[in-house]
Amino acid sequence: MITYNKEKRIFKLDTKNTTYMMGVVDDEGFLGHVYYGNRITDDGVDYLLRIFEMPYVPSQNSRDRGSFLDTFPTEYAGSFVGDFREGSIKVRDKNGHEAVQLTYKSHEIMSGKPKLKGLPATFPGDDAIETLAVKLADDTLNLEAVLYYSVFEKEDCIVRSITVKNKDSEPVHLTKIMSMTMDMDSEDFELLTLYGSWARERQIDIRPLGYGKTGIGSFRGESSHQFNPFMALVDKNSTQDLGRVYGFSFVYSGNFTAQVEKSQFDSLRVMMGISPECFDFELKKDEEFVAPEVVMTFSNEGLGRMTRNYHDMYRQHLIRSPYKDRMRPVLINNWEATYFDFDTEKLLAIAREAKAVGIEMLVMDDGWFGRRSDDNSSLGDWWVNEDKLKGGLKYLVDEVNKIGLKFGIWMEPEMISPDSDLYREHPDWAIALPDRTPTRSRNQFVLDLSRPEVVDYVYNCISSVLKSANIEYLKWDMNRQITDPGSLYLGRENQGELSHRYVLAVYELQERLVRDFPELLLENCSGGGARFDPGMLYYSPQIWCSDDTDAIERLKIQEGTSLVYPLSSMGAHVSDCPNHTVGRTTPFKTRGDVALLGTFGYELDVTRIPAEDVNMIPAQIENYHRFSDLVRQGDYYRLASYSENRQYDCVQIVSKDKSESIVVFVQVTGRPNYHSRNLRLKGLDPKRIYKVEAENEEVATLHGDTLMNAGLMIANPWGDNVSILIWLRS
Ligand code: GLA
Repeated sequence: MITYNKEKRIFKLDTKNTTYMMGVVDDEGFLGHVYYGNRITDDGVDYLLRIFEMPYVPSQNSRDRGSFLDTFPTEYAGSFVGDFREGSIKVRDKNGHEAVQLTYKSHEIMSGKPKLKGLPATFPGDDAIETLAVKLADDTLNLEAVLYYSVFEKEDCIVRSITVKNKDSEPVHLTKIMSMTMDMDSEDFELLTLYGSWARERQIDIRPLGYGKTGIGSFRGESSHQFNPFMALVDKNSTQDLGRVYGFSFVYSGNFTAQVEKSQFDSLRVMMGISPECFDFELKKDEEFVAPEVVMTFSNEGLGRMTRNYHDMYRQHLIRSPYKDRMRPVLINNWEATYFDFDTEKLLAIAREAKAVGIEMLVMDDGWFGRRSDDNSSLGDWWVNEDKLKGGLKYLVDEVNKIGLKFGIWMEPEMISPDSDLYREHPDWAIALPDRTPTRSRNQFVLDLSRPEVVDYVYNCISSVLKSANIEYLKWDMNRQITDPGSLYLGRENQGELSHRYVLAVYELQERLVRDFPELLLENCSGGGARFDPGMLYYSPQIWCSDDTDAIERLKIQEGTSLVYPLSSMGAHVSDCPNHTVGRTTPFKTRGDVALLGTFGYELDVTRIPAEDVNMIPAQIENYHRFSDLVRQGDYYRLASYSENRQYDCVQIVSKDKSESIVVFVQVTGRPNYHSRNLRLKGLDPKRIYKVEAENEEVATLHGDTLMNAGLMIANPWGDNVSILIWLRS
């Protein structure tokens, strides 16, 4: 998978269909990016580095060293010594200077993949993985860096990260560290990113790349609703099946930057890493900074192939939970059913009715602890409110278990309400800037997780709750973003470490949790889907996708989410209508079919919804049981996008052995006076014969090649927001 051409000093990394190359040039050992794209054969293509033309390399033309540095396709760019494009790394050294220039020293090719200390990261699993470690150094600063490249052959992914070590006797401040940069020739690429807000997360945005810098990021303390830590460079006019696509996905849950810079010579510098905003990390002698990793993939078959690469990669090499290979229990969550207005009796009534229709787990959401009767108090006071839950938590859980349901609970452990016993006792535990009125958001503050005793307090709260009763699922929420980045614990020189230390502490907490409670089903959440990122998937197999449960809004949210993340990770529930977020009314069936493409559950008061809806639940659950393995493990194909065509949406999942497939078709707006629609299916075995059922009725028996080329006819449905579920078996 990894070779080194000694004579030309070129590294070549091959996956099944792609090649990544870089090379070392000149006496000083500048590391340059050579190539990334379709797999190629030759291993010495140094001409792509353009060092045989003006301005040549510095040893041959020292008067134009500046031009060399400013045009060389660098693999990891320095700052302020000649390259005027944005650098990958910046420091503040003992003299107060910011310059860095890293050059090649040595390399090592190893089997396996080293762990990243304290960080979530992809792992080899059952596959043989090779890693290239390239050691670079800045001799003036006494700074060492190692660039890591792990090759995941089958999934066509290359994973990059970097560690930096201070070898100097004086401390140095790291003020910027990108996890990857890559310089490549600009062609007609566009930038695809996922933007959004609360209740409309991960919408797809595509924009042209002009000269200068184009990018996204977050400095909200979490990956955010607003931008997901992902970007792709896509050929203009590329489709699901056609065009070159470069994907970059950041395995991190905090502040990030993802940027492309187009230079005067039409080259692109792609970079991704922790946002340099509010970032300043002190490294004393021999201290090391480990940067999170970026998972890159290249597809020559449009966005669809990129998606399938990421789904396979994250399912096999990132999600660790034992639940990744299990059918998740069908849950009912009481948030939209009751909000804060519940007690033991109400929950038990929901549980009884839920059991009768086949639901498997009750999740008690926000409002069960402290004195919380709305969202103004009690975060941090994680003891049960016995006024609401008469008899306590254990009594409730036991009763729910007796009814025959599992029990799950909601917590928001990183937070502290100003109106809480915890805050009255430890006001210094909140993140705040001294002498400034701290900014409230949802009337709450964020705990300073850089302080070890706070981390212990939080962990003890969670573990005591989980141990107090038979709790099998935890929804871990995070409902406000971080402002006023000040810590009363960290020193003056270390205030810029808060955001990253915060994220590391969240990881540490979740690591402890999954270690101590290996059978717990953990679902991450952040005001809906503000922390839907690869970092969190390392700890929880599923993440709540959005507070917007409207089936039609979900088409767009789930489209953007599933562009990168597997359906097995996408929290999706059927809720009541008119929908609480948009006021839209959609058929109960459509709500069920759309939720089927995620983890599936209910978010409604089953004792109060119309009888005809209740009556549909058993059949929906039967569908979920029937299709869960397929949805969780299959290959994803997008046949049509409502966000693009404004009429209908269509997703197909095909089992890995191609013996089975489902298609979920949703007509959002009815079409007057039209003939039937022809759906050309994808991913089937051309030679096999498939029996096709639509809504449990056999509609065709055809070969895969016929279904993929001639297509499958869908009679024009009557009405808006109507869905059709199609099942193919061979
Ligand atoms: C967030 C979550 C919701 C619900 C509420 C409770 O918004 O996304 O699902 O848990 O918090 O306050």
